[in-house]
Amino acid sequence: MSVEWNDSLFLSHGVMDDDHRTMAVLINKLYLSVNEGFGNEATCQVARSLLEFSREHFSHEKRLMEHYSYPDTMRHLWQHRELLDELSSLINSLEGASAGIKAGAIEFIDNWFTAHLRDSDAKLADFLNSLDPEPDPRPTA
Ligand SMILES: [Fe+2]
Ligand SMILES: [Fe+2]
Repeated sequence: MSVEWNDSLFLSHGVMDDDHRTMAVLINKLYLSVNEGFGNEATCQVARSLLEFSREHFSHEKRLMEHYSYPDTMRHLWQHRELLDELSSLINSLEGASAGIKAGAIEFIDNWFTAHLRDSDAKLADFLNSLDPEPDPRPTA
């Protein structure tokens, strides 16, 4: 199953929404690469792009959480770590991994993405959107 972008994934936070759209595109590319058998090199490349982009996106969310003293920061960061670990282990074990292992990793990533957005990122966006005055969408520290 690939990520179906729909309104339930929109959080009304411009910067986060833009990043999430890019992540959904990369996840779907990864899904295609594995399911259409594009080969390990192509799969590795897209997995690395997703890992790199996710790292950037997560450090942006981390800056927002720390800058605005978000109360649930630790749990949120722990979830980010889960996705980064899954992607790293997929990249490191691609060579020699069975189709079932790869499909399982994609399923984990898909499920993680929709669950994280609908729960943790939605709560973070609600928190940020409730601040007065409106928070800086890209605080530098
Ligand atoms: Fe996010
Ligand atoms: Fe997040």
